[in-house]
Amino acid sequence: MGLGLGMTANGAATRRRLFLRTWGCQMNVYDSGRMADVLAPLGYAPVDAPEGADMVILNTCHIREKASEKLFSELGRLREMKREREAAGAGMVLAVAGCVAQAEGAEITRRAPWVDIVLGPQTYHRLPEMVARASRAAGAVIETEMPVEQKFDHLPEGAASQGITAFLTVQEGCDKFCSFCVVPYTRGAEYSRPAAAVLAEARRLVAAGAREITLLGQNVNAYHGEGPGGRVWGLGRLLRALAEIPDLLRLRYTTSHPRDMDEDLIAAHRDVPALMPYLHLPVQSGSDRVLAAMNRGHTAAEFLAVVERLREARPDLALSSDFITGHPGETAADFAQTMALVERVGFAGAYSFKYSPRPGTPAAGAPLQVPEAEKDARLQALQALLREQQEAFNRSRIGLTMPVLLTGPGRHPGQVAGRSPWLQPVHLLGPAALIGREVPVRILAAHPNSLSGLLLAEDAPSPSLRAEEPAPA
Ligand code: SAH
Ligand code: SF4
Ligand code: F3S
Repeated sequence: MGLGLGMTANGAATRRRLFLRTWGCQMNVYDSGRMADVLAPLGYAPVDAPEGADMVILNTCHIREKASEKLFSELGRLREMKREREAAGAGMVLAVAGCVAQAEGAEITRRAPWVDIVLGPQTYHRLPEMVARASRAAGAVIETEMPVEQKFDHLPEGAASQGITAFLTVQEGCDKFCSFCVVPYTRGAEYSRPAAAVLAEARRLVAAGAREITLLGQNVNAYHGEGPGGRVWGLGRLLRALAEIPDLLRLRYTTSHPRDMDEDLIAAHRDVPALMPYLHLPVQSGSDRVLAAMNRGHTAAEFLAVVERLREARPDLALSSDFITGHPGETAADFAQTMALVERVGFAGAYSFKYSPRPGTPAAGAPLQVPEAEKDARLQALQALLREQQEAFNRSRIGLTMPVLLTGPGRHPGQVAGRSPWLQPVHLLGPAALIGREVPVRILAAHPNSLSGLLLAEDAPSPSLRAEEPAPA
């Protein structure tokens, strides 16, 4: 690294404590892991609490209002901790990263001048240099440019193991500019990593023990990376290539946009058994008027047609989605169409939110803002329906035999925990030696957010999932 920072005279790195707190989406979780990777050569090792940490990084999310308020209250607490450490003759480097840093860098240094570093999502490969500058300079170091390609080129290759299930960012940014959303402003324009870089990172993750990889992107299915011979690969092609990696048992991807669900990707759901039968496909609303106001670029019928084609390709596919209630202009009749769409599709899971006006986005200044109480009432009604559907989906697994990827010990002695093909947590009795393997499990009970089951003899012929699996309701 050539920085010399944190090195003792004999060249060994001093041990330093790094506390990382992450809000927001899985891309932020992935980014936090990579920030830990770039700081490791300086001697920073992750710890579980901010007390006594030499460096604290808050990796923030700007998607809804509450997210940035949480940041400022956390910064208040850390100010005290930093003062106490300084009084004791030690220091604490305090950094704010992620999407709030990108959107409100100046606001952060104004409201919390004790912050040392403000860095946007595209600059974290430069963290070591920022830490060095922060320790020399008075005042905050601010880095919020967006040279996304560089970030990926500068990540250390020997990334720390993420465990049996791992995330891998293949795409960043968004060009879609939905009326309500900050992501195009905080993450910048769409960028896809070259296929060779993705495949190399996937092989490293598998060598470090990963058996399931979730490809990440703000618009992951808009992926259009450089493939061999300069050809452009879509996500379907990339998934087929990843599925060839020995010992990589399972693939997933998130988050997709209905508009980018192309034929080849749909066909991959039919052709690639490692691609799990569970897809997060945000629709936001069931009303064409609201979808147009949101600038989503598709109608409710077009969404339903995509769902139908996906289910034809993979009959056991279950879906989850995102919804917003009370987007400006949404009437009771529009909301009824959202409920109707939910009834029609039948989701296995979902995230739903009250519309939250974000400064600088078109919807924030739009007329016909929906009163808070109305947004809330619609959200409650929607969530009740979605919860019912999730519980029904979980119950529909009872009696099925399915492959479960064991990911760790369970809550009770003798228990192990894993994931179903539909991402449901599964608890069962079994030896810890099986962790990391996919084992046949008969599901005995369903709970609101998980399943429990019985481990079947491993040498029994693995039952065919598709043969036994009814299509979700
Ligand atoms: N790229 C994804 C979603 C990214 S943000 C997509 O296109 O669907 C994750 C979810 O947060 C969105 O799907 C949306 O449901 C919600 N969201 C984003 N901005 C919001 C806002 N201003 N108010 C409420 N929910 C919002
Ligand atoms: Fe936001 Fe829309 Fe882009 Fe998703 S597609 S990240 S909701 S602007
Ligand atoms: Fe939040 Fe940024 Fe992700 S705003 S949802 S952390 S892309």
